Amino acid sequence: MMKLKWGMIGGGEGSQIGPAHRLGAQADGNFELVAGALDHDAEKGRKYAESLGISPDRAYGNWRDMLAAESAREDRVDLVTVATPNATHFEITKAFLDAGFHVLCEKPMTMTVEQGEEIVQVAEEAGKICAVNYCYSAYPMVREMRHMVAQGEIGKVRLVVTNFSHGHHGDATDADNPRVRWRYDPEMAGVSGQFADCGIHALHMASFIAGDEVRELSADFASAIDSRVLEDDAMVNFRMEGGTVGRLWTSSVAIGRQHGFDIQVFGETGGFRWASEQPNQVYYTPVGGRTQIMEKGENGLSDEATRLSRVAIAHPEGFPLAVANIYVDLAAAIRGGSSGNLPNAVDGVRSMAAVYAAVASAKERGKWVDARPPMFR
Ligand code: NAI
Repeated sequence: MMKLKWGMIGGGEGSQIGPAHRLGAQADGNFELVAGALDHDAEKGRKYAESLGISPDRAYGNWRDMLAAESAREDRVDLVTVATPNATHFEITKAFLDAGFHVLCEKPMTMTVEQGEEIVQVAEEAGKICAVNYCYSAYPMVREMRHMVAQGEIGKVRLVVTNFSHGHHGDATDADNPRVRWRYDPEMAGVSGQFADCGIHALHMASFIAGDEVRELSADFASAIDSRVLEDDAMVNFRMEGGTVGRLWTSSVAIGRQHGFDIQVFGETGGFRWASEQPNQVYYTPVGGRTQIMEKGENGLSDEATRLSRVAIAHPEGFPLAVANIYVDLAAAIRGGSSGNLPNAVDGVRSMAAVYAAVASAKERGKWVDARPPMFR
């Protein structure tokens, strides 16, 4: 099968997420990196693009030049990944969708709910895929949990408890480091710090596994480090449309926790436990039975988990290959297959609505508020 042509915006040299996209997109031979505007510094971006094998005429100094030039080419890119800082996602994603490109946008997809609704509409009108990189949902064993819930194997989901809490911004003496400080500065980060950065991954995961959507929430925000305007710790209680009860803790001051993302799903007839630091195992307990460890690559898993597992049982597959699974689904969808499991613009706008709801709730000392985007009320 012909490789799909792929372009990147952002994710330049030294960026945090850029390498995971390059490893992920190219892991299975579906995509070839042929174009990019990789850096806010035009010259640095061009040089780095060329060092990655992009030809000089497609190593762009900025995304507007890339949009104009790629739009005019017969062999234009099939997919554009937007891996720039949050405040630029809306403008770039909208422009490329409008011009008829498929887009994978980093999270959070936009800075406001209105922008998120606009992206949903633009993608629909253009008939293009707008995926959002909720990459943890693409781990094979997360897909297995989603499949088992959909098959009724743990009965109706009663309760989801999830944490995305790390301690990497817990050192008060490092709070002024520019790489840390911007995340808690409303000018740069928007209305929310830690909840918009990490909490939305956990919220998306809860919906993804439970097969249900968040309806309302109550939030408590704290800035454990006094100089921070935005929250570095949040506790969010939520209720889903189907009645599932949710509890979510997210923090960046939980010293000792590393990546710190885990989820427990409790149904009427069984429960699951999964953690991103051991992504290849799910602990499954049927009601009245013993706890079993289900392992990526073992016999008897669903097709949804098996198709995303590359190496044999007990050989670890980690984060870049979860991102790769997003690209596996993207390649399938671009080639005309199903995009059912792919996190998309609707997930992106639901997250943004939850962020604004949490901010409003926290300001009113935990008042319960509607967490749905207006377009889904
Ligand atoms: P970073 O600051 O490490 O890198 C950003 C890159 O974008 C740099 O190379 C910079 O030069 C480039 N850039 C900035 N403005 C640009 C522009 N206008 N045009 C072209 N390039 C531009 O940021 P990081 O941590 O890689 O985050 C990028 C995005 O990825 C953020 O939205 C973040 O939330 C998201 N992210 C997602 C993760 C996930 O698990 N899905 C994990 C980490 C980050």
